[in-house]
Amino acid sequence: MTSSVLAVDFGTSNSAAAVLKAGAVRRIPIEGDADTLPTAVFFPTDGSEMRIGRAASTALIDGDDGRYMRALKSILGHELLHESRLVGGKRQTLADVVTSFLVAFKARAEAQSGQEFRRVLSGRPVQFHSDNAARDQQAEDDLRACYHAAGFEAVDFLYEPEAAALACRDLGDTQGIGLIVDIGGGTSDFSVYRTEGDKIEVLASHGIRLGGTDFDQKISVAHVMPLLGYGGQLRRTFGDELLPMPNAIFNELATWAKIPFLYARETERKVEDLLAHAVEPEKLARLQEVITHRLGHELAFAVEDGKIAANADQAQARIAMGLIERGLSAPITAGSMNAALQGFRDDLRMAMYETCMRAGVAPTAINTAILVGGSSLMRLVADEVTATCPAVRLEQSEAFTAVVDGLALATG
Ligand SMILES: Nc1ncnc2c1ncn2[C@@H]1O[C@H](COP(=O)(O)OP(=O)(O)OP(=O)(O)O)[C@@H](O)[C@H]1O
Ligand SMILES: [Mg+2]
Repeated sequence: MTSSVLAVDFGTSNSAAAVLKAGAVRRIPIEGDADTLPTAVFFPTDGSEMRIGRAASTALIDGDDGRYMRALKSILGHELLHESRLVGGKRQTLADVVTSFLVAFKARAEAQSGQEFRRVLSGRPVQFHSDNAARDQQAEDDLRACYHAAGFEAVDFLYEPEAAALACRDLGDTQGIGLIVDIGGGTSDFSVYRTEGDKIEVLASHGIRLGGTDFDQKISVAHVMPLLGYGGQLRRTFGDELLPMPNAIFNELATWAKIPFLYARETERKVEDLLAHAVEPEKLARLQEVITHRLGHELAFAVEDGKIAANADQAQARIAMGLIERGLSAPITAGSMNAALQGFRDDLRMAMYETCMRAGVAPTAINTAILVGGSSLMRLVADEVTATCPAVRLEQSEAFTAVVDGLALATG
């Protein structure tokens, strides 16, 4: 076995691995033949071995008894990462969970490639946490510690959009200024670069904490949560006055990374209380069904599917909620989704302007924009890129693998 550098795109939603061999990128399939695997884990309650990727999602959908988690990357940098709780029959922290995921990932990469990996070049968003430099640094420190704990002796990081720029340079003009727009599950990352022949120079990078999981959250709150009681009213135990329904549980249930924390006796008690006072108890009964039967992730998957369908312009898209109540679903159209996501448009635009400003380049001088990441497939992203940089030709990269390919190139 020889030791070389493993390139890892540890994504909020999907992860991938690759190496550079004789100057060419070789992606390493971690699960079956696929180039990427969902960044998800499932710990069976009986303490049997943790599952990762699609196998984790299958265990969830099959209703196996255990704890499912996704979007772990969003928790890096938070105190929550180091709180221990009972997961899969033993007390562990979420940092332990990330480490276990990386241990399994590394072992499979080694088995698949017949190589031992002591060094890793990992992608990282330009900002794990926008506008909080200390938390952002902490997130990188946390991820580094998890890689070390997983057995990597040397850990280096490269900004994800800069890696994508390396992989995508052939998509742009051989002379000119380009913009990478990498919108994933958790963050939006941008790099302005200049190409001259086969040379590429990154002029500036910038990023914000906004991604597909935030889109899912807003879509869920606007379309699904009202059917569970969100926005409703409560009767007082004494007196006639009505009170507004508290929002917190609904917001958390709509947020991928927070769903597991709702599965506690305390939440069940809260929901019982809301149900007892609700003006529309039939809706709260659905919330109770979701909490007691732990259907939060499946509901989030249904929202994600509805988002993708509505974005593909399926006029009749619906968010399937039959798992809660037979025949129940929430309609979603391009228009209703647009309304829910409207507020994010300015954030994307401002971030692109900021990237151009840092690069000292006028947005009108950018001739190519390369779309990277699953959420760059959202129409609103292309809209905002062309509105910000009117002279661009839009190019779609290999959305889910451009970052890992570029990381592998950077190991050379
Ligand atoms: N066809 C599609 N249309 C719209 N969104 C999509 C589509 N396919 C996937 N997505 C969204 O893309 C996101 C995942 O993208 P990706 O795998 O690039 O993220 P990631 O690299 O894991 O996250 P990050 O880089 O932010 O850490 C999810 O939010 C998913 O819902
Ligand atoms: Mg990504």
